[in-house]
Amino acid sequence: MKHLFIVANWKANKTTLQTKEWFQTINNLQLTFNKDDKKIIVCPSFTLLPLVRESAVSSQLSIVVGTQDISPFDEGAYTGEVNGKQIKEFADFVIIGHSERRKNFKETDEMLTKKFQMAQKYLLTPIFCIQNKDTFIPEGVKIVVYEPVAAIGTGNPDTPENAEKVAKAVKEKGVQFVLYGGSVNAQNVSSFTSMESIDGVLVGSASLDALEFAKIIQNA
Ligand code: PGA
Repeated sequence: MKHLFIVANWKANKTTLQTKEWFQTINNLQLTFNKDDKKIIVCPSFTLLPLVRESAVSSQLSIVVGTQDISPFDEGAYTGEVNGKQIKEFADFVIIGHSERRKNFKETDEMLTKKFQMAQKYLLTPIFCIQNKDTFIPEGVKIVVYEPVAAIGTGNPDTPENAEKVAKAVKEKGVQFVLYGGSVNAQNVSSFTSMESIDGVLVGSASLDALEFAKIIQNA
């Protein structure tokens, strides 16, 4: 059986109270799945990192923590940034290159490469998002998420067959794991994770609801 990554990208959502409720719901469910086969990575806003870290440690599920961004700069005079060293105190993974950041914050391939290098410097595992099979991927990336823009937050996922084709092509470039993201839910998750070259999913809106996310984990 292959190892699956199930990544929750909470985006700019949830207060501390809502985060506590999410973990309470998860902990009250008696989820049964082989922990060795599914790696659950929760990526909250920076403000929630201490709480998510603490809640993850005592959670029923074995959850690890990621962030949704990383500064391209190291420590120093970079107002508003959160750097790799600071992130490493709370998290082990970092999402880089999400299309919402490329679009809203004009992140370029050059900047994404710097972010990737910072993640590596501080031993954070980058989860690098691509929008199509030709999107630039920095040398050395091990985990890629294929997220076609038209599938994000629209309820219109790509077809599992097309996602499989892209995943296969990306693996041929030397990437070890390829996930799919875009309108994944409890109903459609297994259609993606059952594909040979797809090693998991990145879940946005459906990860905000703890019950739905638990179903995604079980059905994956
Ligand atoms: P969605 O978002 O699951 O809400 O489509 C996925 C993502 O953008 O990471």
